[in-house]
Parts: sequence; structure tokens; C-alpha cells
Amino acid sequence: MACPKLFLSCLLLQVMFLFLVPEVAHGQGLKVGFYQKTCPSAEAIVKKVIGEVMSVAPSLSGPLLRMHFHDCFVRGCEGSILLNSSTNQAEKDSPPNLSLRGYQVIDRVKTALEKACPGTVSCSDILAIVARDVVVATGALSYDVETGRRDGNVSSLTEALTNLVPPNANITTLKADFAQRGLSVKDLVVLSGGHTLGTSHCSSFTDRLYNFTGKGDSDPKLDSNYVARLKLKCKPNDQTTLVEMDPGSVRTFDIKYFDLIPKRRVLFTSDIALLDDSQTKAYIDLQIKTGGSTFFKDFGVSMVNMGRIGVLTGTAGEVRKVCSKVN
Ligand code: HEM
Repeated sequence: MACPKLFLSCLLLQVMFLFLVPEVAHGQGLKVGFYQKTCPSAEAIVKKVIGEVMSVAPSLSGPLLRMHFHDCFVRGCEGSILLNSSTNQAEKDSPPNLSLRGYQVIDRVKTALEKACPGTVSCSDILAIVARDVVVATGALSYDVETGRRDGNVSSLTEALTNLVPPNANITTLKADFAQRGLSVKDLVVLSGGHTLGTSHCSSFTDRLYNFTGKGDSDPKLDSNYVARLKLKCKPNDQTTLVEMDPGSVRTFDIKYFDLIPKRRVLFTSDIALLDDSQTKAYIDLQIKTGGSTFFKDFGVSMVNMGRIGVLTGTAGEVRKVCSKVN
């Protein structure tokens, strides 16, 4: 908006414009304790439900953490991952999301919140609080979650396909995909540490085991003993078997994932790629050397950063009554 002469009136116009444009920005409008007045027990309710869920189904910690990440990377953290489509064209129908689980947990949290404070707590905020609570339940340090997100009403299979980072991404793609969403190289390496939890389907990495370059070979960046072990578990077209990403401690939030990277015992190209950048490599080396001196605190900071991506706040979007459908 150029305004060379009528400076004051133009300034006024610009200010009005700022107020009229719905906020779709990196974290603007979010704050810690957004529901303090409107639903003071909101976070306690989420914590209680997650505590109950974790005691009977601890393997849901991984998928629930990953759900927030997959929400935020497609259209921002606005709950589009949760929407159903009658024609199977929503984000959740997209191949990278077919391995997500735990939607019923979000519904259970939402039902409890609707009972206590109808129409108040957004589904996108539920995803952010749940992600915090599952990592804390598995051993991470707690951190304050910013809230105040509102829910979007669009969810597209194709957008999920094009926006979610594939497991064969190299370091250049990873850095660009994070930077595009306002996340730093440090956020990239710290958040990749989320792979300390959970499992992967064989199909997400079998290309590294069989026929990597079309000559029946495996990825030379994988430890050969690990390749042999993985081949015993995963046959070439296996779509169903699950493999632990951080073997032996998939339900514990710890720094073992970082230990595995230089040993070349990590499942994805995107994991091993973290050795290809001096900053991400230095971070991994430091965490290994110091027993994860800063990882736990860093994780909370980076989760907050991720939770700011493309949020809808103020009067933008809506607070869905049911997380799987728009009002
Ligand atoms: C940096 C780019 C990333 C890539 C390419 C990537 C890729 C993947 C893939 C392919 C899987 C296995 C899915 C399956 O086959 O079941 C997975 C699992 C997982 N990812 Fe990532 N991921 C990335 C970043 C993140 C981030 C930022 C987080 C969270 C902070 C995260 C958390 C998880 C968790 C917890 C699981 C285990 C899910 C389960 O147990 O079902 N990932 N990731």
C-alpha cells in the first residue's frame, strides 16, 4: 500500500487493514494460559485423559506426538489432520498419514472438554497439549504450551502429500522444509529427536535395504549388521510389520536416538542426513558427549516453535465442536 501524500489518512487505512486481515501468522495471538479464564481446567482435563490413555495404551505416545507435527506441517497447526472426508480426500487419507493412530484419543479429550466448557477449546490446541503431555508421560521435561489456536475448515489429501517431509529427504530438503515454516536448523535436529519414541512400518525404509541403487544393494550409509537384522524383520514388500525406531526404549523419551545416528543405525535417510550439516552434526555430537545436557529443554522450545506454524487466531477459523468435522 503506497501512500506518498495523505500520510495520516493512509496510516489510518493501514492500521484498519491490519485489524481486518485474519491472523494467519507464525504464533501471533497465541499465549500460555489462553484458557485460564474461559476454561480454567482445560489443561488438567487433557492431562487426566492422557494419563488414563498412557496407562493402558503407552504405544500411542509416538503416534500422538507425530500427529501434532503432521498437523502443523500442512496448512499450519489448525487441526486439519483431524477432519474426515466422505470421499476419502482429507489429509488423514494421504499415504504418509495412513500410519497415524490415536484419533479416538483426541475425540475422548474433546468430549471431556466439551462437557466442561462447551465450544471453547479448539482441536488444534488439543493436539498441541496432547503432544506435550505424551512426551512428558514418557520422560521428557515439561514445557508451557502456547494456546489460542483456532481450527481450519479445509483438509486436503494432496496438500498432505506435497507438504509432509518424506523419509528419503536429504539435508538440503529438510533444512528448506523447516525454514519455509519458520523453523531453524536447530529446530530440525532437536525435533528429529522425537524419533526416540515409537515405531515405523517397514515400508517407510525398505528401499534402503533392498535394491537401493537398482543393483540389489542396500544403502551404504546403513550399518551392514543393522541391515542384516532389519532384513530379517522386513521382507521387500512388507506393508504391515512395525520396527522400533530407537530399539529397546521406544516408550521412553531419551537421547538414545542421537547415539544411534553416528552408529548408522537409524531407519530413515532423513535421520542419517543430520550428519551432513555441520550444525546438526555438532548438536548430535554435543548431546552424545554430554548425556543430552540440553536436549530435554531444547525439545520443549522447538515444540513451541513448531506449534506456532501458520496458526489461525482471533476471529479466523472456528472452534470445532467435533474434531473430525467442521461446525
Ligand atoms: C524431519 C523430518 C521427518 C521425517 C522425514 C519423518 C518421517 C517419519 C516416518 C517415515 C515415520 C514412520 C511412519 C511409519 O511408517 O509408521 C516417522 C515416525 C515418527 N515420527 Fe517422524 N519424521 C520427521 C520428523 C518428525 C518430527 C518433527 C516429529 C515430532 C516432533 C516426529 C515424530 C515421529 C514419531 C513420534 C514417530 C513414531 C510414530 C509411531 O510410533 O507410530 N517426526 N517419522
